[in-house]
Amino acid sequence: MIVAIDGPSGAGKSTLAKRVARDLGFTYLDTGSIYRALALKILRRSVDLTDAAALSDIVSQTEIDLTERNGHLQVFLDGEDVSALIRTPEVSQMASKASALKIVRQRLLDLQRALGRRGDVVAEGRDIGTVVFPEAEVKIYLDASIEERARRRYEELRAAGREVSLAETVGEMQERDKRDSQRDIAPLCKADDAVAIDSSGLTADGVAQEVLQLIKRESSKIKNDRSLGT
Ligand code: DC
Repeated sequence: MIVAIDGPSGAGKSTLAKRVARDLGFTYLDTGSIYRALALKILRRSVDLTDAAALSDIVSQTEIDLTERNGHLQVFLDGEDVSALIRTPEVSQMASKASALKIVRQRLLDLQRALGRRGDVVAEGRDIGTVVFPEAEVKIYLDASIEERARRRYEELRAAGREVSLAETVGEMQERDKRDSQRDIAPLCKADDAVAIDSSGLTADGVAQEVLQLIKRESSKIKNDRSLGT
């Protein structure tokens, strides 16, 4: 089974996806971390995003892998554990910029699908239900108000020791939302068959319970259909 969770940054996708994956024993696939790992390499090498040849080289010569260890996701870039290094505002912005490019999306699409073949998965991102796994049995579109999303991200960054202001975080988030939802290829949008949930004012636990119920209902339906041979 594939559970697809899409939505803008700070909507609570990661918390929800990790929780659901843990409860069901599914693999957690954080597709944003793949874009982030590539963005880190682009920043380290100072690759100009308008330089098609350099971009093509970097995209074809990069190995990214995700593994889970003691319930924590580890992200490997060319064999190096970059799990913590990819969570900075600079990497967020570069991931958003690079992810608008066709060559980047094409290469990372194959990788996401290969990782998705590892079994039952809960995948989160921007285009999971629309492009990466349009056949997903359960699709959620998780959103929240900009104020709430920015406040959550601001608290996460402060807890990680970053000196950021709330106004700066709101500005960066609005910029990223705009870029992610207005790009030509696979923009952030709700799949027609996704269930929309607004997490503003809801607890993480409340959202997780709602989604777990949805998944239970869907899997009983699948089992029923199978036993009826439909
Ligand atoms: O989910 P995140 O904030 O870690 O994602 C970082 C960026 O990667 C996001 O701004 C857009 C891009 N992204 C994407 O284009 N498609 C995905 N499925 C996941 C992330």
